[in-house]
Amino acid sequence: MQPENLVGTSSRIRRIIGECEAIATSRSKVLLTGESGVGKEVFAHYIHKLSRRCDAPMITINCAGVPESLLESELFGHVRGSFTDAHRDRRGLLEAANHGTILLDEIGEMGMRMQTMLLRFLETGEIQRVGADQPGKPLDVRLIAATNRDLWADTLKKSFRTDLYYRLNVVHLVVPPLRERQDDIKPLLFHFLKLASTLENRIMPELTAEAVTYLEHYAWPGNVRELKNLAERLVFRCSGRAITIQDLPLEIGTPDVVEAAAADPWHRLVSECYDRMTIGRESFWTAVYEPFIHRDMTREAVRALVRRGLEETRGSYPLVVSLFNIPDEDYRKFMRFLHKHDCHMPIQAFRMLRSFTPPASAEPHTPIVPASAAFAIGSAV
Ligand SMILES: Nc1ncnc2c1ncn2[C@@H]1O[C@H](COP(=O)(O)OP(=O)(O)O)[C@@H](O)[C@H]1O
Ligand SMILES: [Mg+2]
Repeated sequence: MQPENLVGTSSRIRRIIGECEAIATSRSKVLLTGESGVGKEVFAHYIHKLSRRCDAPMITINCAGVPESLLESELFGHVRGSFTDAHRDRRGLLEAANHGTILLDEIGEMGMRMQTMLLRFLETGEIQRVGADQPGKPLDVRLIAATNRDLWADTLKKSFRTDLYYRLNVVHLVVPPLRERQDDIKPLLFHFLKLASTLENRIMPELTAEAVTYLEHYAWPGNVRELKNLAERLVFRCSGRAITIQDLPLEIGTPDVVEAAAADPWHRLVSECYDRMTIGRESFWTAVYEPFIHRDMTREAVRALVRRGLEETRGSYPLVVSLFNIPDEDYRKFMRFLHKHDCHMPIQAFRMLRSFTPPASAEPHTPIVPASAAFAIGSAV
């Protein structure tokens, strides 16, 4: 059952809740990824709470918050005299979490030396306190790692160990940003307004439809954390009365932005997906295909994306494939997908978009690739 402190009704959040419930009782390591403030820690706690380890401790360490030189002794403990300030033996957080769960938050910030030590622990289950001459007893700790980084990209850049990545990535849960799950905004807001009003002993402000529309069309770069902070401010500002647009911070949006988004509900989603593929280098398969298959994206939105791709490439499907970061060998699969779901469109109209004469040196049939597409293709790996 969904706990009180885990709010969300969108299909994507319900799916993650289902996955947590399915894996909670296993020993599997879990990798939680997603932008900062999306709720990774909330899900980690939920997994622990549902597991057989729920009566043992759940300990969180923020790997970015502890200097690398201290992280080893924090995690593994130390023996007296092993360094200047080590006045007595001290157990580390892994030992403290024995039979329970440890959350290694911001694991992507962990340095190479610690990564190697963590890998050794994951392979043997044994820890060696700093300054000890032999390893201690094996521990039974479930490990959950969280990060807002693309760890796979970090392995390619050699800043994260590939073997450690595979060890951690047994179950991978991706928590989507708030802007991709609009349905959650209203229930979350209500939850935080109620929580803050109770804590501050104030009358809860009233949510108006107009304010909700504004908030639902905002991009929430700080995700749920940002929304929680706003709710806390609104409790002071609007206690006992309705929240008006004037009460909202300026960055939430101007009326025309909101009107345009309301009149064209998938317009923003389309732009975001397009940017994620062309600027963020995400593949069509994860940015579009997956949400479409899970009914989080409409056929109209997919069509709009393909249309935009064809406009950008002047009607070339092979270039759209590159633009959308689809591997060359998936070209046929992509075309089959478009035909099957009625998202394929004839290219003639887009070819006519070529309104200027190609340079003399260009081949007559070479499509003219605009700068953004050229970038996407040039930097494809
Ligand atoms: N689904 C949710 N329901 C209720 N509160 C949430 C939810 N997601 C996030 N929060 C709250 O938002 C804040 C940020 O969440 P957190 O788990 O720390 O994010 P992350 O670890 O991804 O940076 C916390 O105060 C958390 O309690
Ligand atoms: Mg966090």
